[in-house]
Amino acid sequence: MATKIRVLIVDDFAETRESIRKLLQFESDLEVCGAAGTGKEGITLAKQTEPHVVLMDINMPDMDGIAATEKVLEEVPFAQIIMLSVQSDTDYMQKAMLAGARGYLAKPPSADQLIATIRKVGDIAVKLEQKKSIGVEAVAAPVHVQRAGKVITIYSPKGGVGRTTVAVNLALALHTVDTPTVLVDASVQYGDATVFLNLQAKNSIADLADKSVELDPEVIDSVLVAHGTGLRVLSAPPSPEHSETVQQGHNQVKRLLRFLAQTYQYTVIDTAPTLDDVTLTIFDESDVIVLLAAPDIPTIKNVRLFYDVAERLEYLGKIMLVMNRVDKRFGITAEAVADNLKQPVAAQLPFDERTAIQATNQGVPFMMGDRTRPLVRAVLELAQTLRVRLTEVREAAPEEEKKPIRTGILRPR
Ligand SMILES: Nc1ncnc2c1ncn2[C@@H]1O[C@H](COP(=O)(O)OP(=O)(O)OP(=O)(O)O)[C@@H](O)[C@H]1O
Ligand SMILES: [Mg+2]
Repeated sequence: MATKIRVLIVDDFAETRESIRKLLQFESDLEVCGAAGTGKEGITLAKQTEPHVVLMDINMPDMDGIAATEKVLEEVPFAQIIMLSVQSDTDYMQKAMLAGARGYLAKPPSADQLIATIRKVGDIAVKLEQKKSIGVEAVAAPVHVQRAGKVITIYSPKGGVGRTTVAVNLALALHTVDTPTVLVDASVQYGDATVFLNLQAKNSIADLADKSVELDPEVIDSVLVAHGTGLRVLSAPPSPEHSETVQQGHNQVKRLLRFLAQTYQYTVIDTAPTLDDVTLTIFDESDVIVLLAAPDIPTIKNVRLFYDVAERLEYLGKIMLVMNRVDKRFGITAEAVADNLKQPVAAQLPFDERTAIQATNQGVPFMMGDRTRPLVRAVLELAQTLRVRLTEVREAAPEEEKKPIRTGILRPR
């Protein structure tokens, strides 16, 4: 018989606990293994019952759901936490995701939504629990976990718009114990993502793009560098001369990305503005292309040109237009850009030179500092928008095959 998904309810309202319990009692594959009225009680019960899924209220009197999430995951690493929160708590929700929560639902969730979410994340927990019982440290060693990861590319058809800034900080926002993330610096001539993170890399993407290299997860892992947060980084080549190897090895880059997507929940890719073989290969492999625009006319002109190319190459459905360096003093609003391009702007990141430049020069991304700053919050919101969008993509097209390996630049299919 299949393992039942054990569900722990943590909520300070007795009524909420009871109504969820009643709702779940008719589902034969689910079992409520406990109900706690405080965060501390939740942790104790988690230790005793080892739940697959914890439904965690965010606001509780003794300890908030975020701190409780961290503690529960220390006790039961395979548990999947679903935060329950009223709509206005978006900031908390983002913190919760960073603390390791798997998902969130607005309160009160509909019965169908709640049950479907529990089943979805519960299946993951059951598998992780089984792996643990046969001695595979799935959570501690994400490199060996099989996942259908998502590939997010940060692109702009103009230099200096903030691709690296966004790629680095977004990767940090997406990286959690449950959603291990790798940042790939595919700005192959002058890539500087490791500088933003103050990392030294001995090897780079050029070593893996070399056609003579037999790719496998261990070889790939040996080339990645680990940031203090656990984020893995694949560095750009040390000098522009090596970029040739990567261009020639773009089919190898495709295989590399497929390997990374088996291991990492999110692969975030920084790019150069040029539409070369490597960049197009990356677009082919991407689930989402974050197209960065800025409120200046030359950038908007290039973004418009890029949309034409994207239409020809069938990338339109993947594009998410994001405005960086937004400031009302510049006289061009995100609404005006959306109007002009006839494309919706999915997110806006404010212009904040002090935060951005200080972080870059210190090699400490702003995502690691004060989270109340508008620029940091905007990147956290972008991360959340992407999580939601990528979950929807997965639900809409579970079996979608990635496109075959391409040959030739800008060749229409
Ligand atoms: N929202 C922002 N507000 C203010 N400054 C920003 C913002 N985003 C990025 N910057 C600054 O703009 C400069 C360029 O950023 P970044 O290097 O990330 O851009 P890029 O598109 O990767 O550039 P390149 O073409 O060199 O790869 C940096 O000095 C960075 O600190
Ligand atoms: Mg850059």
